[in-house]
Amino acid sequence: MTDINSASANSPLETLSWQGGRPGHVQMVEQTLLPTEFLELEVRTVDEMVDAIYRLAVRGAPAIGVAAAYGVLLGVQDLTGSTAQEVMASLKETCDRLAKSRPTAVNLFWALERMSACAESSAAASASGDEIIGALFEEAASIHSSDKDTCQRMGAHGAELIRDGARILTHCNAGSLATGGMGTALAPIYTAAQQGKRVSVYADETRPLLQGARLTAFELMRAGIETTLITDNTAGWVMREGRVDMVIVGSDRIARNGDVCNKIGTYSVAVLAREHGIPFFVVAPLSTFDMTIADGSRIPIEERPSEEVTNPFGRRIAPEDCKVYSPAFDVTPARLVSGIVTEVGILRNPTSYAIEAAFKDAGLEIPDLLDSGAVKGTSALR
Ligand code: MRU
Repeated sequence: MTDINSASANSPLETLSWQGGRPGHVQMVEQTLLPTEFLELEVRTVDEMVDAIYRLAVRGAPAIGVAAAYGVLLGVQDLTGSTAQEVMASLKETCDRLAKSRPTAVNLFWALERMSACAESSAAASASGDEIIGALFEEAASIHSSDKDTCQRMGAHGAELIRDGARILTHCNAGSLATGGMGTALAPIYTAAQQGKRVSVYADETRPLLQGARLTAFELMRAGIETTLITDNTAGWVMREGRVDMVIVGSDRIARNGDVCNKIGTYSVAVLAREHGIPFFVVAPLSTFDMTIADGSRIPIEERPSEEVTNPFGRRIAPEDCKVYSPAFDVTPARLVSGIVTEVGILRNPTSYAIEAAFKDAGLEIPDLLDSGAVKGTSALR
């Protein structure tokens, strides 16, 4: 275990990385222990990766996508000398297992689809089993490195929205711990600070798992950004007191009409922001858009175990056998969103028309809408 102080040095936090060549393994920050312990976890099997994603050792939509891509490598890397058919069968089985780890962040399914498409096009070109595995290694590395680059680009676009002296409220953690790079929602904040703007952040603690307190406060303070932690139920009051200029959050899935799914509590913050005339921005890569669903009502919302609410961090705070409802995410209607910052620019007052145009401009195919049974993530609901 690394001492927490050495993790507080100025080096950028790398949430996860592939170690070694082939065979290799994934090294990731064990996020459930932050901010009091900094442990780097070694993940060597698909089951360990599914467990790490489900436990939130690695979390945040883009980081889950990168983890899933590396999870595919863990499933196929030992198949040296196998036929192309054997590799493809193992790939499918691995993707099916990874797809059941968490249901809501669409980046997970996006990464698995990219890995599968890569293998299929290699197989269609008569590649051997080893060649298909080689192509999958390249694809996973490309998913990770393009996520880094995407974060930088979202940071540059989003920083244009941030004026010198801005006081920003954020919810959950959408920073470097949640991505393969500098973050989604926190990327414009880091970029604005690098540009010399004075920025300060109110971080919602984000019940029940406290990603805001444990992770956002940790990484912002480590980066030297002025940070004030507030309980979730303080958000309305700090707005009422005139202490917040803008809200910036990330997203786990955005529907074709611009409805935004993010950590539970985001919807309340968006309603409060509208009431107080405060702009509410979302920062998300195009990989977070699910163009197969027309609106946010189709997004599968993960429900977490009741113990996370009744026994947070090992201490019971509610009567035994108390009934609990614990959705991990909510959906903010597009009409409450001032803009979505993507790697290709800012979509102001996002509509399906603007989102489809952004996809076309980026040269991305727009898939057909799916029937309800086929929505990505429904098989993962426990
Ligand atoms: O349950 P988590 O911690 O994976 O939820 C993460 C979030 O809701 C983030 O806000 C989201 O992934 C934003 S993108 C970095």
